[in-house]
This record gives sequence, structure tokens and C-alpha cells, in this order.
Amino acid sequence: MAEDTQHRASTDPVLVIIPTYNERENLTPLLRRLHTTLPDVHVLVVDDGSPDGTGELADKLAATDDRIHVLHRTEKAGLGAAYIAGFRWGLERDYATLVEMDADGSHAPEDLPRILDALADSDLVIGSRYVPGGALVNWPKRRELLSRGANIYSRLALGVPVNDMTAGFRAYRRAVLGKLPLDDIASAGYCFQIDLTLRTAQEGFDIVEVPITFTEREVGQSKMSGSIVVEAMLRVAQWGAEHRAGQLRRLLGRFVR
Ligand code: GDD
Ligand code: MN
Repeated sequence: MAEDTQHRASTDPVLVIIPTYNERENLTPLLRRLHTTLPDVHVLVVDDGSPDGTGELADKLAATDDRIHVLHRTEKAGLGAAYIAGFRWGLERDYATLVEMDADGSHAPEDLPRILDALADSDLVIGSRYVPGGALVNWPKRRELLSRGANIYSRLALGVPVNDMTAGFRAYRRAVLGKLPLDDIASAGYCFQIDLTLRTAQEGFDIVEVPITFTEREVGQSKMSGSIVVEAMLRVAQWGAEHRAGQLRRLLGRFVR
């Protein structure tokens, strides 16, 4: 664990950030499950102007529940941009822990207590599908192959020892997000998750993976797209080249003084 961080106490305020785009059917049951499991956590729904009315529904839920907050953004600007806005909102307030979670039920709120417990001895806890005990339920084979391929490619290119770098169910200690240059993070799509994992590792923070069960959504549609995949491949290739160049410079530096 990094030196300037302290152990998480179970009473520390937690903010669960949930990005939404057309998740009207999913939001109410998910928040109910979350607050049944962890009654004290606060939620920030970050909605990108969903045409299906998810934002209005979130406002309605927030009106009668102090634990629920809503951030409205005007257009669909990607998962990365939504989370950056959510992190800023949380850092402006006194939350000690900031959690990322999907709105569609793929991430089980019942897994969150174990994720938060593991934050007691680390700085970033990743809810991982690809460590022993992790599981996938009903995920189409082509999505699994894409995800496993992305993880192998990223691990080889970047040299970060994390098995599920694209995972979207994770808990950050406030100190980590306070240290990362949120202004410089340009990743728009799901490669945002790889980007933050890499930056967290490069800052020397401790990362731990906790097994989770990822269950394919039953309602609504995935926002995964070809352009999200292309963005990830291009960015990881570039970060990988920078990583290798850095290794080479250090190696040469040993010989050329
Ligand atoms: N605000 C906002 N803006 N939310 C978005 C956007 C966006 O542009 N795109 C997606 N979301 C929200 C969705 O509404 C959902 O709550 C969550 O982000 C995840 O989106 P999905 O479309 O359900 O993702 P997935 O199931 O295909 O992908 C899962 O696997 C990826 C690869 O491992 C997720 O767990 C991703 O987080 C993960 O990177
Ligand atoms: Mn999903």
C-alpha cells in the first residue's frame, strides 16, 4: 500500500457512481438491491441525457431518498467522460471511497461488501471475472472472447499484472483519484478502465483483484460498439509502445552513462 494512505474504516463514506444510458428498466431494482445490501452508501447516477427517461427516473428516486444523487450530462459522451465527471463530483465532497458499477445488474451489489473489505489493505480493488472464483453467466461467447483477448493483449503490451483490466466494478480509495490527472484522461469508451488501471499501477498504488460473478443483462442493450473496440486497440498499442520505449531507455541508461 502506498505510504500516504491509510486503512479503510467500515464507517468511511462510500459513493457508488453508476453511469447510465437508457437503463430505465434496470435502475430501480438495482438501487433497491444495493441499498438492501449496504444501506449507508450514497449513489451518484451519471446520466448522459438518456432518451428513454432514465435521468428523470433518477431524479424521482433522488427526490425521496437523501442517499441518491444525480448528475445530468447533455449528450452521450462515453463511459470514461461520465466517470470522470462522477469522480470530480465525489472528490468535491467528503467521500473516502469511490466505486464504479454498471447500471444493468451485471455487477451484483451483493459482491460489493467483499470489494470494500479488500480495500482495507489496498488502494484499488477490482471485481474480477478472471481470477479463481470469478465467473461469467450468460455472456455471449463472442463477448467473452473479445474481453479475454483485450485483457491478454493489454497485459502483454503494458506489463501490468492484472487479470481483468477492463472490469467496470471496482473501488478506489479517494487518494488514488486525487492523485491521477483527471484532466488528461482522454479515453472515451471502455478502454477508460484499462487507462485508469495502468495509471494507478504507474503511481505505485496497490491493486487487488477480488472474484465476482458477472451476469449478462436481462433488460436493455449493451452500448459496446466497434468504435469502442478500435479506440481501445489504438490506445493500448500507443501506451504499450511508450512502455517499451521506457524500458529500453532504462536498459540503455545502464550502459551509456
Ligand atoms: N453515462 C453514460 N454514457 N453511461 C454509459 C455510456 C455513456 O456513453 N456507455 C455505457 N454506459 C453505461 C451503461 O448504461 C451501463 O450502466 C454501463 O455504462 C456499462 O455499459 P454496458 O453497455 O452495459 O457495457 P457491457 O456490458 O457491454 O460491458 C461490460 O464489460 C466491459 C468490458 O469488460 C462493462 O462491465 C464495462 O464496464 C466493461 O468495460
Ligand atoms: Mn452491461
